[in-house]
Amino acid sequence: MESIQILDAKKHVGETVQIGAWVANKRSSGKIAFLQLRDGTAYFQGIVVKSEVGEEVFQLAKNLNQETAVLVTGEIREDSRSKFGYEIGISGLEVVGESHDYPITPKEHGTDFLMDHRHLWLRSSKQHAIMQIRNEIIRATYEFFNKNGFIKIDPPILTGSAPEGTTDLFETNYFDQKAYLSQSGQLYMEAAAMAFGKVFSFGPTFRAEKSKTRRHLIEFWMIEPEMAFMHQEESLEVQEQYVAFLVQNVLDNCDYALDVLGRDREVLKKYTKLPFPRISYDDAVELLQKNGFDDIQWGDDFGSPHETFIANSFDQPVFILNYPKAIKPFYMKPHPTREDVVICADMIAPEGYGEIIGGSERAIDHEYLLEQIRAHGLDENEYSWYLDLRKYGSVPHTGFGLGLERTVTWLSGIEHVRESIPFPRLLNRIYP
Ligand code: 4AD
Ligand code: MG
Repeated sequence: MESIQILDAKKHVGETVQIGAWVANKRSSGKIAFLQLRDGTAYFQGIVVKSEVGEEVFQLAKNLNQETAVLVTGEIREDSRSKFGYEIGISGLEVVGESHDYPITPKEHGTDFLMDHRHLWLRSSKQHAIMQIRNEIIRATYEFFNKNGFIKIDPPILTGSAPEGTTDLFETNYFDQKAYLSQSGQLYMEAAAMAFGKVFSFGPTFRAEKSKTRRHLIEFWMIEPEMAFMHQEESLEVQEQYVAFLVQNVLDNCDYALDVLGRDREVLKKYTKLPFPRISYDDAVELLQKNGFDDIQWGDDFGSPHETFIANSFDQPVFILNYPKAIKPFYMKPHPTREDVVICADMIAPEGYGEIIGGSERAIDHEYLLEQIRAHGLDENEYSWYLDLRKYGSVPHTGFGLGLERTVTWLSGIEHVRESIPFPRLLNRIYP
C-alpha cells in the first residue's frame, strides 16, 4: 500500500492508501465520525463509518483528541462538498502519538499566549498558509537570480564590521577579540561582485534595535544582490522585476494559502505591473508637507506614517530616490552634482507595509570612502580589506537588500511581522 501526502490525494482517487497525519478537529455522532486531518501539506476530511469499520475502530476514532498523531488507511474519494475536493473513507486507524489537553483550542487566544506556544501555534492553518507563502518567496528568489546569471554567495555571520552603523550591533566574544553578528552581508557581497560579477546572498541578519513595531525583528533574513558594472537606474529595474516576479509566483503557486489568508488576488495583481513609480526624497518631503505633515523637514528620515502616506499616493510599490547623505550609511555613492544627497533608493510596499528594500549605488573612490569611514567613527583598520576593492580594478557597482519577513508579511496580508518567521526574535522575546 502506498503512503501519500494529503496534497497528492487527487492522484489517488479510488486507491487505498496510507497517510500519517494529526487530528486537527473531530465531530461524531453514534454512527459516523468526521476527522479533520492535517499532515503539513493540506487539510482534508477522514470519514469513519461504524457499520464499515466495526465497534473497536469506531470507538478509537470517536475518542481521538485534538493533535493526536495517527496512521490512517482508506480509499481516496472525490468530495464535491469540500473546497479541497477529496476525502478519505477510513478503513484502518492506528494511534501513533497520543495528545492530551492540547493548549490551542479552536476558540480565540490572545497573542501573548499564542507566541508562548509558537512551537504548537505553527500547526494552525493560518500559520501553515503563511509558511507556504514564505517558502514560495524563497523558492522564487533562487529561481529569479539563477535564471538571471547571479551566483549565490554566503557572507559570514560573525564579522568585524558595521555596514549599517554602530548603534544596533550584537557584540560577541571571538576568542580574545570582539565580533559582531552580521547586520548585512553587503560589504562582503561587494568583494564577491568584484570576483564574480553578479552575486546574491540569502541569510540571517541581526539588529539589536530597540524597536518594538509591527515591522521590526531582531533576527531576520535578507536577500542581498550585488552587481558589478551596473549603475543605480539598472538596479532599480532588477529590483522591480524581482519583486513583481515574487508576487506573480505567489499568485501562481499559492492558491490554497491565499484562500486561507483571504488575500485579494486582484490587489496582488496590481503589483505585477511594471514599472513601479519613482519619487525623489525631495518631492516626497514636499508631498508630505502639502498634506499636513508639519512634523517632517528636509533631512529627516521617514517614520512609518510618512511611508504609509507616500505608499498610499500610489497603487504599487514605490521607490523613494536619493535620500540625504547624513541619514544614510557611509558606503553610498555621492550625487554627482549635489553635496547633500546620495544615489540610493528604498522600495516602499503598498498598504502600509513599509520599506521592503534598501539599496544604493556604491561609492567607488578610495579617498572618498576612507574619509567617510573616518567621519562615521569607524575603525579604518577593520575596513582595509574593503578599501582594497577600490584599489584593484574598482568599477561602478550597485546592490540592494530585500527583507524576507517584511515581504512575506505584505504578500500574506497579515498584521505583524512576527507571524512571518517560524520562531521570531523580538525585543522582549527569545522563547520558544
Ligand atoms: O535598509 P537596510 O538596513 O539595508 C541594508 O542592510 C543594506 N546593506 C542592503 C544592501 O544594500 N545590500 O535593510 C534592508 C531591508 C529593509 O528594507 C527591510 O526590508 C529589512 O531589510 N529589514 C528588516 N526586516 C525586519 N526587521 C528589521 N529590524 C529590519 N531591518 C531591515
Ligand atoms: Mg533601510
